[in-house]
Amino acid sequence: MKLVIAPDRDAACGHMADMLYMCCAHNPAAVLGLATGRTMERVYGHLVRRLHEVPVSLAGCTTFNLDEYCGPVARTAQSYRAYMHHHLFRHLDIPATRTHLPPGDTDDVTAACARYETAIRAAGGIDLQLLGIGQTGHIGFNEPLSSFASRTRRVRLAPATRAQNAEMFGGCPDNVPRHALTVGVGTILETRRAALLATGPGKAAIIARVIEGAISPMTSASALHFHPDCTFVLDEDAAMDLSEECRWMAAYIPPRH
Ligand code: F6R
Repeated sequence: MKLVIAPDRDAACGHMADMLYMCCAHNPAAVLGLATGRTMERVYGHLVRRLHEVPVSLAGCTTFNLDEYCGPVARTAQSYRAYMHHHLFRHLDIPATRTHLPPGDTDDVTAACARYETAIRAAGGIDLQLLGIGQTGHIGFNEPLSSFASRTRRVRLAPATRAQNAEMFGGCPDNVPRHALTVGVGTILETRRAALLATGPGKAAIIARVIEGAISPMTSASALHFHPDCTFVLDEDAAMDLSEECRWMAAYIPPRH
């Protein structure tokens, strides 16, 4: 595992945007694994600005998102499809047919999840997987007890996750869908490169647990210790509970003046 610590949230998000940008600049047919959530909004903002300043075409790229809510909400403005359109896809030249999210509104969950896995493989696998982390230690929506071999499937969201995501649903956790489709931990471990971004003091405790604590299905992100090429990108706030020994091993992004 590589650890990068940025002086602040903006620098951490900018670094992630650079990783995405460079991946697409080097490989016009890159396959990207994308995430949603509050943390990623700033990453996509940076990426769109970079693509505007020094244009790179994403017309030949393919994207697969990690997750989508289950049920009719998957067709509304609260869906992750709508989030991705708003924050990223509408600003890019990537055709809609090359952007994929798990179909949360499907009637046949098992078949749809198997098709999603097949589509990832048919695209050649994911070159760069972007990850956030939830308060439960989830990556994608792999809540505690997710097997490290798990695949795309329907999951029940933990109460802490529904509370974390309540803002988009009028501030009330009860309004957040109970279930979602998510790619599995096993699917994430097969990506060629993964990068997890965490910012803010609210992520410090879970980050310390994931990086320095036990590797356990109770903390899905701890599975990333088994990933052959994974980088954790943190701001100083999210890194504040890490031990000195751990911080010695980090690469530091210098502050901007
Ligand atoms: C969403 C996803 C989740 C989020 C995580 C952090 O696609 O994969 O794992 O990345 O819940 O969300 P924020 O950034 O809102 O704290």
